[in-house]
Amino acid sequence: MASKPKEDDEEEIPSSPLLSSLSFSMEINPSSLLHRVQFVVLVLLCYLLWLRLLFFVFSPASPLPYSTAGLRPRPHQLARSPETCDSDIAPFYIHRIHPRFNAALVGRCLSRLPSRDCSYVGHRGLGRPLLRLPGTPGDDVEGTAWYATHDSAAEMLFHARAERHPCRTMDPEKATLFYVPFYAGLDAAAGSRQTNHTLRDALAVELAAYLYSLPSFHRHAGRDHLLAVGRPSGHFMRSPTRLDSGANRLLLLPEVSNMTILTVERHPWEGHNQVGIPYPSFFHPRTVAEVAEWQAELRHFERTHLFAFVGGPALNSDKTALRSRILNQCWRSDRCLPLQCKPGTRDCNDPDRVLDVMRRANFCMQPPDESFTRRSTFDSVLAGCIPVFFSEHSAYTQYEWYLPDQTETWSVLLKPEQWDRVEEELGRIPRAAVERMREEVIRLIPRLTYAHPDATRSELGFRDAIDVALVELTKRIGSTLQ
Ligand SMILES: *[C@@H]1O[C@H](CO)[C@@H](O)[C@H](O)[C@H]1NC(C)=O
Ligand SMILES: *[C@@H]1O[C@H](CO)[C@@H](O)[C@H](O)[C@H]1NC(C)=O
Repeated sequence: MASKPKEDDEEEIPSSPLLSSLSFSMEINPSSLLHRVQFVVLVLLCYLLWLRLLFFVFSPASPLPYSTAGLRPRPHQLARSPETCDSDIAPFYIHRIHPRFNAALVGRCLSRLPSRDCSYVGHRGLGRPLLRLPGTPGDDVEGTAWYATHDSAAEMLFHARAERHPCRTMDPEKATLFYVPFYAGLDAAAGSRQTNHTLRDALAVELAAYLYSLPSFHRHAGRDHLLAVGRPSGHFMRSPTRLDSGANRLLLLPEVSNMTILTVERHPWEGHNQVGIPYPSFFHPRTVAEVAEWQAELRHFERTHLFAFVGGPALNSDKTALRSRILNQCWRSDRCLPLQCKPGTRDCNDPDRVLDVMRRANFCMQPPDESFTRRSTFDSVLAGCIPVFFSEHSAYTQYEWYLPDQTETWSVLLKPEQWDRVEEELGRIPRAAVERMREEVIRLIPRLTYAHPDATRSELGFRDAIDVALVELTKRIGSTLQ
């Protein structure tokens, strides 16, 4: 090669025997010149194409797996056709409300030092991305589906998904549903120590007054409007007769009374317009393949213990007795795996620890906390661990849109007389029944999951917690407005 005069500076081009033999034969027989020129042109074209291919495969600019991950464009996003709305979901409009009702609450949270209430608001409510979970392949933070999501983040996750949802309409005239993206849980948390009730309720009252001033609100007396709140409804229903626990009065305001309230815990007796939505757990997939992979892994994970309890004895509450009884039984039994949550330790906020414990057990205890429901129920479903309840209000009367009516197909309810022999009661359940229940629990994972806000309908390929809510809201609005 070195002896040949160079026509260009592409040094990595290998010498082409085809090209040289061609020029040799041309010298011998010039009569069929035209054909040969055509052939040469064709060969040259092929050669150039091949060079181009080479350039792409070995290009020094091809992305490195980690360092340029943030800059890498998603190729599938470029050539995607517009997403179409699921025909079971009515077009919805997101009300434009002042940032003091959402973004400013987040900003105020972020500006403070991380605290129990405020460390979770990053990444639109997803929280801190997790590198990896034990046993899951890959540790690319950029594409992760795992986050240390706080239990109160549902209101932010709902908003983030709704904003990019294909059923969202920008025209209120075309909308059947109206979503009000107020971060009521963040407001309630910020105001819980405010002793002046007028001040504590101020933002909620202001929001209600604003909604009442909108013509679209009056079209159906607010019945086509919805709020999603990330905390139990008790945080928004301060009673003048009961002890002040820091709640405001948002859900007791007359303007809100006809709206549909999506909440992680509905009031079992007074929450006539409240519907339960799942607490967020740690998994926020973008595709159905990610979900299927996780489900497959759960089916094969070895369950070494009969039951597990993640939690601690509740402080200053009459439920202390029950939770301590469960905890004591767990400590005494070598068939129970405890993860004790003590003030000052971080184990119970560590998703790896929580899921690791729950993945090793057949059953996960869900005794009531200060309220009936626990985020832990959704962590246990995510871990394929069959939840064990001590009250029907911990799930059965809460999440009617999400859970099978046949409660015994996916969970266990222990009656008060069974509370002191948990191991005996659970040990009695036949192995085949346990397998069937676990399969049902694993099957529930997609619909109880908050998909990643970046997910698109075509890529996601399943209905997540927010899609399920929108489908059910669509049915509900159809019957209410008739
Ligand atoms: C509470 O705050 C409001 C508004 O600032 C004020 O008018 C009211 O007097 C306060 N109430 C009490 C009991 O301090
Ligand atoms: C709620 O609905 C009732 C009954 O339809 C109606 O009388 C009331 O005015 C509505 N409330 C609001 C705030 O529009």
